[in-house]
Amino acid sequence: MGRLENKVALITGAGGGFGRAIAEEFAREGAQIFAGDIDDERNKETVDLITAAGGAGTAIHLDVSRKEDIAGALDAIAQQHGQLHVLVNNAGITQREDFRHITDEQWAEILDVNLTAAMRLSRDALKLLTAAKGASIINISSIMERVHVRQLSAYSMTKAAIAGLSRSIAVEYAAFDVRVNYLCPGYAATGMTERILRNDAVRKGLIDRTPLKRFAETRDIAKAALFLASDDASFITGEGLTVDGGMNIQL
Ligand SMILES: NC(=O)c1ccc[n+]([C@@H]2O[C@H](COP(=O)([O-])OP(=O)(O)OC[C@H]3O[C@@H](n4cnc5c(N)ncnc54)[C@H](O)[C@@H]3O)[C@@H](O)[C@H]2O)c1
Repeated sequence: MGRLENKVALITGAGGGFGRAIAEEFAREGAQIFAGDIDDERNKETVDLITAAGGAGTAIHLDVSRKEDIAGALDAIAQQHGQLHVLVNNAGITQREDFRHITDEQWAEILDVNLTAAMRLSRDALKLLTAAKGASIINISSIMERVHVRQLSAYSMTKAAIAGLSRSIAVEYAAFDVRVNYLCPGYAATGMTERILRNDAVRKGLIDRTPLKRFAETRDIAKAALFLASDDASFITGEGLTVDGGMNIQL
């Protein structure tokens, strides 16, 4: 019996990196996966991997910055299951820009995808989450909610806001028996970091600064998400779990 047997899970950004690993991990543990991504081809690949391994998954076209797509995804889940046990707000983008050059359009775009989408999904999914009894939301923040590098101010802002949003929704949603937690991953080699990690000096520098001397594997994040989604974490809410090999605590 899997740890998420017969649970329904919606994972945004499931076509890549952490989202795909979380979708595969949850499916292995018995969950029925709704994989949402703006990239239909990669999203379908995720669902194909899940079904090839004997799991259950449905691919949904979901641009998290579009209200209509969010409504459509939640409608599909409402029609097929009438409940949602786990919502993982994982889809995210990054931008490298000196703060003094950030345009209003860049700021609005990253806010929409990294923050407003998590707000809308967490707000609009409440009925389905309440129906599931013991449901939970997992938001993907980052160690950059608290440690910073230059040119990532807009990204860091969204990740700090995700932490604050998670903690405050946790207080309100406890009344509905819905837990809300967030993960703070360190660096992992995914589509998001591909370009920067191509630089050997950068790679080496980051690994040198990590006490456990490696990047995160996407599976490290998926395992942490599984823990937060499972009944093992049934008394944990409003908490941020850092998965970074110790990077953020080392001076
Ligand atoms: N990779 C890292 O080192 C790292 C570290 C900390 C936190 N994170 C966070 O983890 C999450 C996942 O990132 P990743 O590293 O797996 O990146 P990734 O680029 O590999 O995957 C992100 C996925 O989100 C999808 N996506 C982008 N915009 C979307 C939109 N508008 N609607 C729906 N889907 C959209 C992409 O198509 C892609 O499949 C992000 O929130 C990111 O900020 C990543």
